[in-house]
Amino acid sequence: MEVQKRKPNMVSPTVLLLLTCAIFFISLPQVSATRFIVGAKYGWTTNVNYTDWAGNQTFYLDDWLFFVYDRNQQNVLEVNKTDYELCNSDHPLHNWTTGAGRDVVPLNVTRHYYFISGKGFCFGGMKLAVRVQNLPPPPKASPINHKNASPSSSRTRIVIGVVVAVIWTSFFTLW
Ligand SMILES: *[C@@H]1O[C@H](CO)[C@@H](O)[C@H](O)[C@H]1NC(C)=O
Ligand SMILES: *[C@@H]1O[C@H](CO)[C@@H](O)[C@H](O)[C@H]1NC(C)=O
Ligand SMILES: *[C@@H]1O[C@H](CO)[C@@H](O)[C@H](O)[C@H]1NC(C)=O
Ligand SMILES: *[C@@H]1O[C@H](CO)[C@@H](O)[C@H](O)[C@H]1NC(C)=O
Ligand SMILES: *[C@@H]1O[C@H](CO)[C@@H](O)[C@H](O)[C@H]1NC(C)=O
Repeated sequence: MEVQKRKPNMVSPTVLLLLTCAIFFISLPQVSATRFIVGAKYGWTTNVNYTDWAGNQTFYLDDWLFFVYDRNQQNVLEVNKTDYELCNSDHPLHNWTTGAGRDVVPLNVTRHYYFISGKGFCFGGMKLAVRVQNLPPPPKASPINHKNASPSSSRTRIVIGVVVAVIWTSFFTLW
């Protein structure tokens, strides 16, 4: 009796989960946000040319900067252009320092962002300027763009969505 009662209750969340997973994966945006580790393998430290580093990246709206650094030495201050150039940390626009040595900055406005490390390290080059731009419009399905567009990518996402949904479903059903 109990088993019969429970069965329908098991099915509906499972179906819901399957649908949710499938819809989630299918509706993922074409290009997802990037989280940049500032300075890549070096992190936020001395002796890295961040102008050089930033010049090698393209920053789009809703990307993230991830500052990883020695919390006892450095900090992350967002300043305006003048203070970036002068290494002036007296009136930061935003103090992103959390104290963990791992600070995440959302690049959620299309503009220039300027960061410096206070405590004098800016003078040694710990300063970063990034320009955040809008995502390019998705490629149109015109004959010219056809070879650049990847029709397989949405199919791939559907396949991934279904696979994940099936895994989740079997997981919950077995449970
Ligand atoms: C950092 O790199 C930029 C661009 O490559 C260069 O113009 C600049 O002189 C470098 N700065 C230092 C301090 O080496
Ligand atoms: C930027 O890219 C150039 C050319 O690929 C490379 O030589 C340089 O090391 C890169 N700089 C950084 C900081 O990644
Ligand atoms: C940056 O802030 C300082 C101090 O508030 C101000 O004097 C300066 O004009 C500002 N610079 C810019 C580019 O807004
Ligand atoms: C920034 O915030 C951190 C953590 O709250 C704090 O310890 C530090 O003094 C602040 N620095 C500045 C320059 O405001
Ligand atoms: C961008 O993120 C900052 C920090 O989380 C937040 O204070 C601000 O409201 C956000 N701005 C927009 C336009 O979303």
